[in-house]
Amino acid sequence: MALTIALSKGKLLAGTEALFGRSGLPFPSGDGRRLVVEREEMRFLFVKDMDVPTYVEYGVADCGVAGRDVLLEAESDVYEPLDLGFGQCRLVVARPAGSGFDYHRAPTVRVATKYPKVATRFFLERGVSVEVVKLAGSVEIAPGLGLADCIVDVVETGRTLVENGLEPVADVASSSARMIVNRASYHARRDDVGRLLETLRSAS
Ligand code: PRP
Repeated sequence: MALTIALSKGKLLAGTEALFGRSGLPFPSGDGRRLVVEREEMRFLFVKDMDVPTYVEYGVADCGVAGRDVLLEAESDVYEPLDLGFGQCRLVVARPAGSGFDYHRAPTVRVATKYPKVATRFFLERGVSVEVVKLAGSVEIAPGLGLADCIVDVVETGRTLVENGLEPVADVASSSARMIVNRASYHARRDDVGRLLETLRSAS
């Protein structure tokens, strides 16, 4: 039976394709619109990044590639055996540049984010009362438009923050692409999963 691998259609896709190429593993060419594609002894599912852990946790996929940022938010019950090294970024708290906004002093911080659980944990662990405004993307515009005091979001080059008048004020977590494995598959398909992990590990 083919190993099923869940992949994000987002930013990690190019790095995943490059890694699979270096590893001599099959990978679907990126032109089609099909979201379930078989190549040799593998089946690939192309899904939203936040859904990768869900497909793996429920065993629909044996393995998946997901950012640590997504895994921190999803809190899924999966194995995370391998840091793939690419897709490095940081989760940060950012505020309007020069505003001096200090979340320690605000009675309640209103934060816009795609990562409500991560953001809530960050502020509550620091004894700061928080109200999360959940957005699906483009969160950098929220403070300037009065929707939030600050954001918790991913920063890679920092350009999006700068171009939207924001500055980082605290690090929440660092992130990179991780290989995740369904707990049952890890044991029941030990040989196939082990071979895949070994191949990827030597090319990472
Ligand atoms: C991510 C993130 C930032 C941007 C950071 O967004 O949410 O907006 O990339 O990258 P930078 O530091 O290199 O500028 P993404 O492209 O995934 O879109 P989204 O915000 O609409 O989800």
